[in-house]
Amino acid sequence: MKRNNSMLFVLLIVSLCLILAVNVVGAPKKYVIGFSQIGAESGWRTAETESVKSTAAERGIELKFADAQQKQENQIKALRSFIAQKVDGILLAPVVESGWEEVLQEAKDAKIPVVLLDRGINVKDDSLYVCKITSDFIWEGKAAGEWLAKKMKSKANIAELQGTPGASAAIERKKGFEQAIAKFKGMKIVKSQTGNFTRAEGKQVMEAFLKADKTINAVYAHNDDMALGAIQAIEEAGKKPGKDIIIISIDGVKAAFEAMVAGKLNCTVECNPLLGPIGFDTLIGAINGKTYPKWVVQKDGVFSMETAAKVLPTRKY
Ligand code: AHR
Repeated sequence: MKRNNSMLFVLLIVSLCLILAVNVVGAPKKYVIGFSQIGAESGWRTAETESVKSTAAERGIELKFADAQQKQENQIKALRSFIAQKVDGILLAPVVESGWEEVLQEAKDAKIPVVLLDRGINVKDDSLYVCKITSDFIWEGKAAGEWLAKKMKSKANIAELQGTPGASAAIERKKGFEQAIAKFKGMKIVKSQTGNFTRAEGKQVMEAFLKADKTINAVYAHNDDMALGAIQAIEEAGKKPGKDIIIISIDGVKAAFEAMVAGKLNCTVECNPLLGPIGFDTLIGAINGKTYPKWVVQKDGVFSMETAAKVLPTRKY
């Protein structure tokens, strides 16, 4: 009996020491992060969501995920709910550039850092967010314009499928493209309308373009999904995409590489969606007092039909 008691006593002491050790050394902090995602409008966005979710799971981060279904008001609601839940930090993929001041001020007042993922915003006070982690959309638009001008020997009647109105990705991709083609008198945008970054709307808009203008011989789509929709519309109109009509788009998703291998898409300008690791590195750094340049820019490449078959097997998204 006496021996049992002393065994119990030893066990008790050992457990107490263990509890003490964990408290002194400190168990790793489990971060709670809110992620306000725009929606699921494109293959690119699905890849980004997957990158954020899988990185959170790998790193033991508790992720509160909110899909805004393309609506800014839903993103604002999500941000307010994250603030009320006292999350440690917020990742925000902003659907449009404007209208963020009030809610970001609320996050700042609550001392919750916000990192912008994949799109930028337009606010006077840039201390409202840590930084934006995005590709250079102007560069992407320019690269697309330069590639197309070369391919078309400086003469084309271009149909432009724009992204979501008010989105930095749409505004800047348009700007960069226009800057590049301005150098060539023969490069004309004859039709331009939003397809909201979706395949269905890209198809619908392209159908209308083809009916209204028989001179179109090139397409510039602000993302791959709209280009893939346009390809369907062109085929249904009895023309050969990639031959009768030259097509360039932006993103570089696997489906675009498949379309290039099939000879239906001519070129895609890459835009990296795998932002989970850098997003969490930056946000957790900021939570712990680190500072960052306001723009953490992602480097991308240009891939044409000729190299697609070689690249496709190693494409990650
Ligand atoms: O903000 C990045 C853009 O948004 C991607 O090009 C597009 O596919 C997405 O929906």
